[in-house]
Amino acid sequence: FKTIDDLDVAGKRVLVRADLNVPMADGKPSDTTRIDRSAQTIKDLAARGAKVIILSHFGRPKGKVVPEMTLKPVADAMAQALGCPVAFATDTIGDSAKAVIAAMKDGDVAMLENVRFHGEEEKNDPAFADTLAALGDVYVNDAFSTAHRAHASTEALAYRLPAAAGRLMQAELEALGGALGTPQKPVAAVVGGAKVSTKMEVLGNLSKKVDMIIIGGGMANTFLFANGHDVGKSLCEKDMADAARKIVAEAASFGCEIVLPLDLVVAAEFAAGAANKVVGIDAIPADMMALDVGPATIKDVEDRLATCKTLVWNGPFGAFEIEPFDKGTNAAAQAAARLTKAGTLLSVAGGGDTVAALAHAGAADDFTYISTAGGAFLEWIEGKTLPGVAALEK
Ligand code: 3PG
Repeated sequence: FKTIDDLDVAGKRVLVRADLNVPMADGKPSDTTRIDRSAQTIKDLAARGAKVIILSHFGRPKGKVVPEMTLKPVADAMAQALGCPVAFATDTIGDSAKAVIAAMKDGDVAMLENVRFHGEEEKNDPAFADTLAALGDVYVNDAFSTAHRAHASTEALAYRLPAAAGRLMQAELEALGGALGTPQKPVAAVVGGAKVSTKMEVLGNLSKKVDMIIIGGGMANTFLFANGHDVGKSLCEKDMADAARKIVAEAASFGCEIVLPLDLVVAAEFAAGAANKVVGIDAIPADMMALDVGPATIKDVEDRLATCKTLVWNGPFGAFEIEPFDKGTNAAAQAAARLTKAGTLLSVAGGGDTVAALAHAGAADDFTYISTAGGAFLEWIEGKTLPGVAALEK
């Protein structure tokens, strides 16, 4: 596909689809990674005399105007990242968008309101895509982390305007392709998160590609339950037990081992500093819940990673956001970072939670590559075609 280097942008209205779906706290972005990494493309285009019009979604407003999901605070943070003003249109289309764009001079930057306030975005509605396309002369897709969605602003626009990949999109595809295109074996995947039900397909597809899947987080409880262990008050999807057993059996037939915790840290409540103890997987008390993996599991994970050449990581091991239940995630992240630094492991991670967990462990800087994407990262690793990328290639 083309990159922004192939585009003639001077004096043109360039619609840049970024993914500025960032975590918010107290009305401000609490992590600006996606903003900072999108800023490069915007700076480049503005410096070349483009009128840069930023399009993004935020949250899942389901086609309604949800005031808490406005992109205005993100526009302010983007202005800070760029060191220049970012005009803000209070609607994605219509008079407000047209007026803001009409007032732009070459090199100016503007942001349009949350594109998902319009239900037609997620429906990939052709008329809506035409309306968006009319706002620009050229289209740049920099939203790798939304490329798994076939939406008007992520896919349809590429068929309506001269299109290219932005710097972040390019960097993500080059880094992931370089690291994982033909990965060195053995390959380990760490897959964590609360629910098995949301990762069923991912686990099934990954098990065809990797040598082991190390299960972390609440998901692990469902697998333990499926293996006949009593999980007490732990997060567990009991109705997924059959599915979990099937995943393990299928994975084995592909030569992939599903690795489960050997011991757990349990507490009576989900709270920072809650009284806790280490128990074996057969000894979870009925009135307690698993919040982290124990020392035997940590040792097992460390030993396994030491035998691997490639690691893909999505999802924490425990409730890393509340101490002391961050120990398992911290230890595993630090082990991966150490091995990467020593040159024996190539490590790639993705997903908002994961990136926060690795940063919390002080391990993020030593990973080979950290993607800004969560869902799209997993789908790329599974080998799925991402509609946003496919549209750029056509
Ligand atoms: C993400 O955060 O993974 C992307 O912004 C996509 O968001 P979505 O899952 O709501 O489509």
